[in-house]
Amino acid sequence: MHRCFIRFAGQGWQCSVRCMSSAVRRRKALRSAFPVLDLPLQPIQRHVYEANLRNSHACLKKYTELKEKVKKGGGDIGIARHTQKNRKLLVRDRLRLLLDDDDYLELSSFAGLDLPYGDIPAASCLTGVGRINGLWCVFIANDATVKGGTAYPITVKKQLRAQQVAIQNRLPCIYLVDSGGAFLPLQSEIFPDKNHGGRMFYNEAIMSAMKIPQVAVVCGSCTAGGAYVPTMAEEAVMVHQIGTIFLGGPPLVKAATGEEVTPEALGGATLHAEVSGCVDHFAWDEKEAFNYTRNIISTLNFQLPEEEEDASKRESEEPRYNSEDLLGLAPQSYSHSLDVKMVVSRLTDGSRFQEFKARYGTSLVTGFAKIHGQLVGIVANNGVLSYEAALKGSHFVQLCDQRDVPLLFLQNTTPAAAATLSTTQAEVNSNCLKAQASMMSAVACATVPKITVVIGGCHGADSFAMCGRAFDPNFLFLWPNARVSVTAPGYVGSLLPPDDEQEEDLNEKLKEESSAFFSSARMWDDGVILPQDTRKVLRDSLDIIRQQQYQLSTERQQSVLLRM
Ligand code: COA
Repeated sequence: MHRCFIRFAGQGWQCSVRCMSSAVRRRKALRSAFPVLDLPLQPIQRHVYEANLRNSHACLKKYTELKEKVKKGGGDIGIARHTQKNRKLLVRDRLRLLLDDDDYLELSSFAGLDLPYGDIPAASCLTGVGRINGLWCVFIANDATVKGGTAYPITVKKQLRAQQVAIQNRLPCIYLVDSGGAFLPLQSEIFPDKNHGGRMFYNEAIMSAMKIPQVAVVCGSCTAGGAYVPTMAEEAVMVHQIGTIFLGGPPLVKAATGEEVTPEALGGATLHAEVSGCVDHFAWDEKEAFNYTRNIISTLNFQLPEEEEDASKRESEEPRYNSEDLLGLAPQSYSHSLDVKMVVSRLTDGSRFQEFKARYGTSLVTGFAKIHGQLVGIVANNGVLSYEAALKGSHFVQLCDQRDVPLLFLQNTTPAAAATLSTTQAEVNSNCLKAQASMMSAVACATVPKITVVIGGCHGADSFAMCGRAFDPNFLFLWPNARVSVTAPGYVGSLLPPDDEQEEDLNEKLKEESSAFFSSARMWDDGVILPQDTRKVLRDSLDIIRQQQYQLSTERQQSVLLRM
C-alpha cells in the first residue's frame, strides 16, 4: 500500500488517504488504449517539410555553436585560474560528483548570452534538476570561471527562477556556492528591488518553512551577500582550504584595521565548522563534501516507490514514427505549419491520442495521451485561436483540472490579426476576445501542473491562453525554430501607418528579437530543447512534477532556525 494524494489550490499535490499502490494503478492504466494517430508524411506535404527541415538544421547549427560556447564557461584564463591557481573542480565535475548521473535536466543554459552588458556564459551559474540517490533535486551551482562567479542581473534572475521551480514542484534545493557576490559595476540592477539578490535569501527561509529542503555546499568564496546562502540553508557542508564565508574579505580587513589575515583564518571551513557553527559538516576535499551532501539527501522525508527511481526503464509504448520527423514538422514560420496532430503523434506513447471535441473548433486540438505512461491533457494550436477553438480550449482545460490531469500546451500561435474594418468583423473579433479571455481564465485558475513547449510562434495574446510564461507553467521550453514576440516578423504592416522604411526596420528588429536564442538568453523560458529530445524532456518534467507525491510530510511549519 502506498499513499494517494489530493490537490490543494496552488499547492500542488498533498498526501491524504491510503489507497492502492501506484504500481498497480499504472499497470491498470496501461491497458486503456487510445486510438492511434495514423499520420505518415504525405507527398503533398513534402515541400513544406523539406523547407522546415532546412530551417531546423540551420537552427541546430546555431544551437550547437552556443552549446560549445557555454561549455567553455569563462574561457581558458578563467578555467586555469579556477583549476590551477585556486585548485577547485569545474562546475560540471562537481555536478558529476553530486548527482547520480549526467542525465539531468539543465535549465536555461543559454541564459546570459549576447546581452547588452556582455556575454555571460550560462549566466555564470548552472541550474537544473538532477537525481541524488534517486530523488529529483534542483541545483544552483555558481561557475567561478566566469568573473569569479559574481552575480549579474541575469544570474539573479536565473537563480530565482530555479528556486521558483523548486517551490512550484516541491523539490529539494542544493546550492553549490562559489561566488564573489554582486557584480559591482551593475550593483543597482541587482540589489534593492523585490526580485533582486535579497529575494534568494527570503526564498530560502520561505522554502524551508514550506518543508522544501535547503542544502548548501561551500566550495569557493561566499563573500558579502553570498555569505547568506549557506547560513540561511538548513544544512551546510564546507570544503577545507577551498570554501570561505565572510562579509568582507582580507583586503577589507587590512584597509579597516591594518591587520593581515588569510582567507582561511578569516572565514575558512575550520573556523565555521568549529567556532562560528555557520556550517554543519567539515569536508577535507570536494569529493568528501559531495558525499556528505548525497548522504544529507538520504535523510530527507521522501519515500520513492522502486519503479520511480528510474523512469527510463519504465514500461511504455514508443511512438510509431521517428522522433527525427519533428525536425521537418517544426514550422519555420506560421505559413509552414503542418497538422499539429503529426507533432502529437511523434510525442505520445504508441502515437495514441484520445481526441476531445475533434469536430469542433478544429484550429485547436485537444485530447488525452500518455507520455512514458503518464496521462496528460494536450492543448495544441492548429491555426487561429478562433471563438470556437478558445471555447473548446477553456472547456478542456477545466476538464483536466477537474480530473487532476497535467496539461501540455504545444504553442504555435498566429501572427497579429488584420485590422477591424467592418461592424460584422468587430462583432466576430469581440466574441473571439471574450472566448479567449475565458480560456485565459481557465488556464490561470487550473491548479494542475502545466508544461508549455513553443513549437512554432509565440505571439500576442494567444500566448497567454496557451500558457505562456506570464501564466506560470511549471516548465516552459522552446524549440530552436521558435519565435517569440508580440507580433510576428512580417506582420506589422497592418498595425502601422504606411511607411516602408519604418516597417522594414521594425520587421528586421522583430526578426532578431524574436529568435528562440534571444528569448532564452533573457530567461523568458526554461531553455531551448531539440524537437527530437522533447519526449524525454517531457518524461523528466512529468516525473519531476509528480515526485512531490512521495514526500511523507508537507505540512507548513517554521523554517529551520539557524545556528545561533
Ligand atoms: N564585481 C566585479 N568583478 C569582480 C568581482 C565583483 N564583486 N569579484 C571578482 N571580480 C572579477 C575580477 O575583477 C576578475 O576579473 P578579470 O577576469 O577581468 O580580471 C575576475 O572577477 C576574477 O577575480 P580574481 O580576483 O582574479 O579571481 P580569484 O579567483 O583570485 O578571486 C574572488 C575570486 C571572488 C574570491 C575575488 O575576486 C574577490 O574576493 N572578489 C571581491 C568579492 C567582494 O568583495 N564582493 C562584494 C560584492 S557585494
